Amino acid sequence: MHATARAHTNIALIKYWGKRDESLFLPTNSSLSITLDEFYTTTTVSFQPSLNKDVFLLNGEKANEHETNKISRFLDKIRIRANKQIYAEVNSLNQVPTAAGFASSASGFAALAAAATKAIGLEVTNQELSIIARQGSGSACRSIYGGFVEWQQGVLDDGTDSHAVPILHENEWNVSILSVLLESEQKKVLSRDGMKRTVETSVFYSGWLEAVQKDLTTAKQSIAERNFEALGKVAEANALKMHATTLGAEPPFMYWQSSTLDVMQKIQELREAGMQAYFTIDAGPNVKVLCQPKDEEAVRQALLDLEKVKGVHTCHPGPGIVYLD
Ligand code: PMV
Repeated sequence: MHATARAHTNIALIKYWGKRDESLFLPTNSSLSITLDEFYTTTTVSFQPSLNKDVFLLNGEKANEHETNKISRFLDKIRIRANKQIYAEVNSLNQVPTAAGFASSASGFAALAAAATKAIGLEVTNQELSIIARQGSGSACRSIYGGFVEWQQGVLDDGTDSHAVPILHENEWNVSILSVLLESEQKKVLSRDGMKRTVETSVFYSGWLEAVQKDLTTAKQSIAERNFEALGKVAEANALKMHATTLGAEPPFMYWQSSTLDVMQKIQELREAGMQAYFTIDAGPNVKVLCQPKDEEAVRQALLDLEKVKGVHTCHPGPGIVYLD
């Protein structure tokens, strides 16, 4: 009762921002992401009759009680589904620079869902796996698939129609995503808390909901036509709208730091000079830049010139779930 799976992290171009059901992780809007080739989590799950509770090792070290409980609650859903009451040792290795603002939760829960279902002997389709992974971390449902992926929000109360759908394979369109590592403090408002606060209190949240479906349609159309400029524009505008909701929350908050603005301004300057580059930002200060492979080196150099930029990591579309046993 043992299996290993690898999942790659993803970056949303149209953001998931708000839940309609907190316990099932059902979103208020559909979202769209690119799964990345460079950052991933490899997880081995081993169910053992001799254990009297779950054990969670993260990068070789025993995780704290809070982290272990999160994993246990997630495994409970898989145990119920398999109708087996047996504990597991979970060994996760993160190839995700947490400092680069990548939530390892997307690749982490996708890899855990795949390894745990296989180890316990459940036969699941990728769609079912996406539904299971979603219940660990919303964005994890998109990491089941490679390339360009849409998470369809669904309408059902039980969440069985809220899952990811692959829209373009990783080999079908090569774009570059530069992950910009900034000198910054730890993030103060977790994505989970930030989205809850904006849904409940932001005077701009209704504007977000009005706009996001249109942005998604534009993004999908741009991908179908391989129209890089249109995709970059809508991704950047969508990220700005998401961040605008935080300013209208009660109490207001923002994820940006001065270094975030330095990168945003540099990207605008590059565009004025004729380069096609666009930024996106998740629930933290770090920035990801979308550009075309022919420009990636020039954009990378321009970003490295900024004082508060500590490093730039170049990524491309990557694969979905891989089983390693
Ligand atoms: O699934 P979570 O809790 O990591 O939330 C992700 C939220 C954003 O990164 C801001 C947007 C997204 O769609 O990934």
